Amino acid sequence: MSKRSMLVTSALPYANGPIHLGHMLEHIQSDIFVRFERAIGNEVYYVCADDCHGTPVMIKAQSQGKTPEQLIEEVGISHRADMQGFLINYDNYYRTHSPENQKFSQEIYLKLRERGYIFTKTISQLYDPVKNMFLPDRFVKGTCPRCGAKDQYGDNCEVCSATYNPTDLKDAYSTVSGAKPVLKESEHYFFDLPKFADFLHGYVKTVLPPEMANKLEEWFAQGLKPWDLSRDAPYFGFPIPDAPNKFFYVWLDAPIGYMASFKNFCDKQGIDFDVFWKQDSDKELYHFIGKDILYFHSLFWPATLKGSDHRLPSKIFVHGYVTVNGAKMSKSKGTFIKAATYLKHLQPECLRYYFASKLTAQAVDLDLSLDDFVAKVNSDIVGKVVNLASRSAGFIVKRFDGMLGSTICDEDLACKFTEAAPLITAAYEERNYAEAVRLTMTLADEANRFVDSHAPWVLAKDEANNDLLQAVCTQAINCFKALITFLSPILPQVYAASQEFLNDKLDFNSAAQALLNHQINKFKPLFARIDPKDVAAMVEESKQDLKEAQSAKPQKEATPSSEYVPLAPEITIDDFIKLDLRVAQIIAAEQVPEARKLLRLQLDLGFEQRQVFAGIKSVYKPEELIGRKVIVAANLKPRQMKFGLSQGMVLAAGEGGQDIFLLSVDNKAPLGSKVH
Ligand code: MSP
Ligand code: ZN
Repeated sequence: MSKRSMLVTSALPYANGPIHLGHMLEHIQSDIFVRFERAIGNEVYYVCADDCHGTPVMIKAQSQGKTPEQLIEEVGISHRADMQGFLINYDNYYRTHSPENQKFSQEIYLKLRERGYIFTKTISQLYDPVKNMFLPDRFVKGTCPRCGAKDQYGDNCEVCSATYNPTDLKDAYSTVSGAKPVLKESEHYFFDLPKFADFLHGYVKTVLPPEMANKLEEWFAQGLKPWDLSRDAPYFGFPIPDAPNKFFYVWLDAPIGYMASFKNFCDKQGIDFDVFWKQDSDKELYHFIGKDILYFHSLFWPATLKGSDHRLPSKIFVHGYVTVNGAKMSKSKGTFIKAATYLKHLQPECLRYYFASKLTAQAVDLDLSLDDFVAKVNSDIVGKVVNLASRSAGFIVKRFDGMLGSTICDEDLACKFTEAAPLITAAYEERNYAEAVRLTMTLADEANRFVDSHAPWVLAKDEANNDLLQAVCTQAINCFKALITFLSPILPQVYAASQEFLNDKLDFNSAAQALLNHQINKFKPLFARIDPKDVAAMVEESKQDLKEAQSAKPQKEATPSSEYVPLAPEITIDDFIKLDLRVAQIIAAEQVPEARKLLRLQLDLGFEQRQVFAGIKSVYKPEELIGRKVIVAANLKPRQMKFGLSQGMVLAAGEGGQDIFLLSVDNKAPLGSKVH
């Protein structure tokens, strides 16, 4: 087979926050792929970068009293350290705010314009009159026009799942200044995506697995819409040529950042960039991404490339989301774990192994169950693989001067290794790492059975058994050599240390070939068991991270940064007495698994019982609510929700998210009492 040549990328993490274990899934997944492809002899370049542009970075820098450039510089340093900490072997980790990227973005845009794919249109958008800026949807909050839930984002309601325009929100406010947004017109630049609909419809079937391409059918059926790729100043981004005060929307230049990072690398290394990106390039191009950014990578990005005469991605590899202990990563539970926090307590290869053991080519969510993590890593890597070497090496070193024998003793076992090798290779190639790990661990079990059945510690008691002892230990060491070589894309450090111990360069393509009559070195511990205490400490520190983040900020994220939520318009006492507020007691509470924010509460109002769905799941656990007295808006019109009828509203203070505080009443208040 001739040597293949490829460029591999991971999605570019936003520069407005730290790397967490969710990101790490992607970088570990792609790094394993890259190490594997290199191990079998292919030429692979692997690049990434920070995604620096956009309103969130600009606002964050402002709130910290920094320039965006300062912020991205600092973030860049920590992102790079995290990647290195997890042994992610990038050729280049760059940033999208770079001269290369500006040049490419503008050139590509001009090409698209020249081809007639760009048009302008005046649209009106919400504008913050205090900050003098247009507001992206996520910086506008207000009351849901459908269900009346407060503090919903500009595009959809997390309580009733309604979708709408930010202009439909009631009592809208800017989360940047707290001001009431006004509508303002502005001319925007659009990319004519519908012109690429036919091309894309065929193309996505060639780069995505069928089940994923089928999902996109929905998007094609709805019809593709032109893509608004301009943003008005102030915006942290690249200026659009010939358009004063207009900037490229961050998602235009973000994927071009893949090219720019590679270009930056090529220039340093003297590699021919164009061979990889020209239209008819025979090099392979693979993007690893999460399921949330599929639209950008399978539609906007290929259309941009196609329209500007560049090559297209060969495949797009989509993964699911990381959950921890069966739930979305949560700051309050301490399961929103930053990469840096993990690395303070645990070895990178533990997580690499655990993720690999569960990763397939399907875009399904992957649960990091912390107990299972400890059990699996300790039992597999230490118990099954490393022990194989540690049990046998001593005999070889002490009894045979470190020399492996000239034969092995169980041909059948050796055969199993030889036969599994191509299957393991194929599993990696298909990104079915779970299968590669499973096959490897099956071999490890066989090898341990072999050692147990020959019991070298018994053989060692009688010199007459010397030949057999040497053959058994030689074979055990060779099993170890094959196993660790099969796992080398996942465990690069253990692999490196094993090469030293075995005094040999371990080659993936000949993993199952026996090392005979060969001098090995003294065994040194290759891998430390996970102590569950370290996991607990990591979780504890992650909770601490949250507290620090909260005390560092005068107000929490959901609250406008410089002012309180503006007061609602004045009402009269007649308006107020329309509200019938009552004292009630929570007598049952349970999760609504399909709902992101809701708990189902059963309330006793004294004169009757009611069911109410309350958006307090992010802060309260059902079991801690039972027995608690609350205040209910009792004459609110019942509302039919997906999950059942909600008969009233439980009152709470705060702005949502982690900022929810149930109202209490003096415990002596009788159930059903009216609040005046
Ligand atoms: N900046 C964009 C990507 C631009 S690519 C040209 C972005 N950044 S991100 O930081 O939000 O996410 C980066 C990658 O991490 C995405 O592929 C995303 O799917 C992935 N993940 C973020 N959180 C994740 C989990 N909890 N689990 C798995 N992957 C997750 O999107
Ligand atoms: Zn709603």
